[in-house]
Amino acid sequence: MSETMKAWTGIDLANPEAVIGHALSLYHPALTIASSWSVEDIALIDMAAQIQPDIRVFSLDTGRLNPETYECAERVREKYGIEIEWMFPDREAVESLERAKGLFSFRETVENRKECCSIRKVEPLRRALKNQKAWMTGLRRSQSVTRAKLDVVEIDKANGGILKISPLADWTHEQAVYYVKDRNLPYNRLYDQGYASIGCAPCTRAIRIGEDERAGRWWWESPEHKECGLHLTVPAEKGTYQI
Ligand code: ADX
Ligand code: SF4
Repeated sequence: MSETMKAWTGIDLANPEAVIGHALSLYHPALTIASSWSVEDIALIDMAAQIQPDIRVFSLDTGRLNPETYECAERVREKYGIEIEWMFPDREAVESLERAKGLFSFRETVENRKECCSIRKVEPLRRALKNQKAWMTGLRRSQSVTRAKLDVVEIDKANGGILKISPLADWTHEQAVYYVKDRNLPYNRLYDQGYASIGCAPCTRAIRIGEDERAGRWWWESPEHKECGLHLTVPAEKGTYQI
């Protein structure tokens, strides 16, 4: 077992507060929370802020997010008094993509979709995680087939071997919704319109009763393709999307 993983011996990985507290004690301020302003991310931020008021939070502003998402982010910024570390995609890369392929190339092929996600999400993520020791996500196992084997604590080989921590891995979506609503915390208003998982505006829709919670993400693709490259366990160039 590596020294990094040894530091986690004896920690109750089924207890999100214990995981978050231990992570903060080990890595803050070289620990940053990735937020897309989902209810899972808000629950994480809330638990972390109670332990460490000056937590670090970053968000990837792809340039294609819904206004409701930005509004939620602002409410969180005000409530916790934290500076959100917004990451924006490389300007020249976006300009080249939009000039060459138009504004909706991601609908045409999986390759085009991955190209857009790579420019707008993955490259900014690499920059956000530079010089960090660990990052925390709101990932859950029950989100999709690609996340079923998610570990609460894992070495993130796709991001230079830093630690990736997902304290809510065992939670259901309903648990996160309950946590946020019960405490009257800010949440993305799109949930009230039938959205269950929220990403970029043109790649996300509300779901219908009985549909899978990620059915509204890249709905034109099959489930095994539905990862944008943020959550790889192997170097991106190998192209494996298993978690
Ligand atoms: S995605 O890869 O399909 O877009 P998803 O929306 O399920 O991811 O979110 C899973 C976790 O990834 C979030 O809880 C958050 O930690 C992180 N994440 C996703 N999108 C962003 C974003 N735009 N900015 C920062 N973190 C994000
Ligand atoms: Fe581009 Fe859609 Fe990926 Fe957003 S989710 S980066 S718009 S392909």
